[in-house]
Amino acid sequence: MTQQRDEGQAAAAGKPKVVLGVSGGIAAYKACELARRLTESGHDVRAVPTESALHFVGAATWSALTGHPVATEVWESVHEVPHVRIGQSADLVVVAPATADLLAKAAHGLADDLLTNTLLTARCPVVFAPAMHTEMWEHPATQENVATLRRRGALVIEPAVGRLTGKDTGKGRLPDPDAIFDVCRRALLRGAAGSGADLAGRHVVVSAGGTREPLDPVRFLGNRSSGKQGYALARTAAARGARVTLVSANSALPDPAGVDVVRVGSTLELREAVTKAAAEADAVVMAAAVADFRPAVYATGKIKKKDDREPEPLALVRNPDILAELSASRPRSGQVVVGFAAETDDVLPHGRAKLAAKGCDLLVVNEVGESKTFGSEENEAVVLGADGSETPVPYGPKETLAETVWDLIAERLPAAPRE
Ligand code: CTP
Repeated sequence: MTQQRDEGQAAAAGKPKVVLGVSGGIAAYKACELARRLTESGHDVRAVPTESALHFVGAATWSALTGHPVATEVWESVHEVPHVRIGQSADLVVVAPATADLLAKAAHGLADDLLTNTLLTARCPVVFAPAMHTEMWEHPATQENVATLRRRGALVIEPAVGRLTGKDTGKGRLPDPDAIFDVCRRALLRGAAGSGADLAGRHVVVSAGGTREPLDPVRFLGNRSSGKQGYALARTAAARGARVTLVSANSALPDPAGVDVVRVGSTLELREAVTKAAAEADAVVMAAAVADFRPAVYATGKIKKKDDREPEPLALVRNPDILAELSASRPRSGQVVVGFAAETDDVLPHGRAKLAAKGCDLLVVNEVGESKTFGSEENEAVVLGADGSETPVPYGPKETLAETVWDLIAERLPAAPRE
């Protein structure tokens, strides 16, 4: 490649520097959208494609999208020592898509082109968004490489499930560029704050949404939980490096990037899914609104009106208290268990009593009502600790509350991360 003048240099001054590594997979075309999102939101983006990535998207596209010349090899512009400088000066490196080959090279410290050299010299947060066929993703070699990278603090986003190249369907799709952008934005914020991927190597379980207790094939008893707080918790934990299992009860929200989502309906289904995932989790957060009761009888056919007669009273039975069960069982030593309490009055006294009754480590207490909390983007809460602590979180985005909850969990986790 001929040497080019870097016209984007002057415009880049003062902006966070993001290196967008692109390895050779068909999903490279989606990284164009990520480049655009990053540049439009005020980041100085430098694309570093691998040689094989250029088979999918050419250098001219990367150059036009980022305003910088594009190099793939360490032999270009040698006087500027790009193989060292690009990584050293980056505030964030994101590799999207990251192929199995690229992950293997990164895990083993190989450095045979500009991108792999950049990965070795970067001291900033590094995000990998893998994309490949399911078999390649699930292969023990890839899984071990991913575990190595996570242990070292890299954020490896779980691939999405869906249509892959050709006729195949399964886990291995590159998550939506918007979702990768969100992970990058958070990683940059945490990088700037010096807090990094503090949940790397941890497995966490979050429940979200609201359970539905079926009465007959078309009716259920339910609640108004949207799932937004639980989803914010899941996204935040993934952005802080955790492997996240999100057990989602009837939420209409799209699957967050990099999170394993298990969809459930009733309380008994939620209990089964959460208990299974909790068996090897470092932390469990029960943000779901769980029905305390379910109909005693499930009618297999639709319940009909009977002439002019008044209906029979509805007989209910108690559901198990999942949070209390989790708090009592703790299948993994040092596991942190967190509950939520939605209260309409006497919020703090009810919260304190509930924390004691459930036996969890933390209880996030918030006030709910007709217009408060349900479905909204904001929340206000006090996080009560079993150790007597009280952490107020002022009214603000559900993400902010999620960050505080993970801060408090991280403080309570045993020292050595496992993976
Ligand atoms: N929870 C649970 N299993 C239940 C009910 C609730 O695991 N059967 C969990 C919720 O996920 C939440 C916490 O317990 O984390 C508190 O939920 P809440 O409905 O406020 O508490 P309840 O025990 O149902 O108390 P209340 O009598 O106030 O409804």
